[in-house]
Amino acid sequence: MRYALISDLHANLPAFEAVHADITRREIAAVYHLGDLVGYAPWPNETVAALAAAGIAGVAGNYDSTVATDYKHCGCRYEDPRQEELSHLSYDWTRRHVSPSTKACLGGLPFRIDLLPNGGHLAGPRVVLVHGTPTLNTVYWTEDRPDEFCVKMASLAGMKPGDVIAFGHTHKPWHREVGGIHFVNTGSVGRPKDGDWRAGYVLLDVGGGSVQVEFVRVEYDVERAMRAIRESDLPDDFAEHLRTGGLAP
Ligand SMILES: [Fe+2]
Repeated sequence: MRYALISDLHANLPAFEAVHADITRREIAAVYHLGDLVGYAPWPNETVAALAAAGIAGVAGNYDSTVATDYKHCGCRYEDPRQEELSHLSYDWTRRHVSPSTKACLGGLPFRIDLLPNGGHLAGPRVVLVHGTPTLNTVYWTEDRPDEFCVKMASLAGMKPGDVIAFGHTHKPWHREVGGIHFVNTGSVGRPKDGDWRAGYVLLDVGGGSVQVEFVRVEYDVERAMRAIRESDLPDDFAEHLRTGGLAP
């Protein structure tokens, strides 16, 4: 069974369109998103509508659940006062621009999705999809987390050897296996932070006793995204962020 997993689109419609085109030309059983559909770029309504039109289901990111519930901030981490200011500007802009139907759509996203590639009538591997961790969608599951953290999360999620848990939120892709359980951070479609500007997603093959993870990067019309950010009231910093793959603030 082959899945495409896409996360952290962050209202970057050109990035989603390129990824979707790349997925469509492959043989994929199903596509799921791991949340954070909005924020930082000027197409929140269009991105949510495009996912719905493509029939792509998924889970709630922190940006989705905070916008949907009118929370006081987006639940994002910042490392300095400028980042904090930018974070608030993006959140305020997004809240002012999401339509009622987009907001309802974000509020209806589930926290977690479980996939059973062999079917629910047979024992077999389970693929768990969350945005951040199985406990909260705001917790950053970075690559430098120790194995003990991974094992604890897997236990909380009720996982066993051979299972896979996939998540995003940090915008930096990684994969490792601990105790037979696969931990996969899918990276970000619309706002990578690993120094590579291209849109990132994951192809996951599960079945026949093996798990295979492929990280895919796709070029997209980043100039179009940068232009739209500069022409909007969003901070121009977000355009530089896209061009540098997150190396600019
Ligand atoms: Fe995100």
